[in-house]
Amino acid sequence: MKRIKEIGYVPNINFSLHDVEEESKELSLYVHSEKLAIVFGILKLDPEIEILIQKNLRVCGDCHEATKFISKVSGRKITARDSHRFHHFTGGFCSCGD
Ligand SMILES: *[C@@H]1O[C@H](CO)[C@@H](O)[C@H](O)[C@H]1NC(C)=O
Ligand SMILES: [Zn+2]
Ligand SMILES: [Zn+2]
Repeated sequence: MKRIKEIGYVPNINFSLHDVEEESKELSLYVHSEKLAIVFGILKLDPEIEILIQKNLRVCGDCHEATKFISKVSGRKITARDSHRFHHFTGGFCSCGD
């Protein structure tokens, strides 16, 4: 999260839980399952392997934004399949065009 903030990621607490303290909202965004899954993939998979995550619900706007930045800082290709479509992240952009 520190590395993507350095290149311009701004947490959007509109997507955090509503029933937590204001100062906890940013932290609660960091443990969204798709962010954890992506970071786990970066840690565990060989660099040439594309990261694929699947989610039964629609990916949240903050995770979508963060994943664009993660694809940029890590140089990894990341594909996220949510309930609506595939999102192919590479070099800071998503194939869905936001
Ligand atoms: C958060 O939600 C408010 C109210 O709907 C909206 O005005 C604002 O633009 C949103 N912030 C971001 C960063 O999307
Ligand atoms: Zn999220
Ligand atoms: Zn997308």
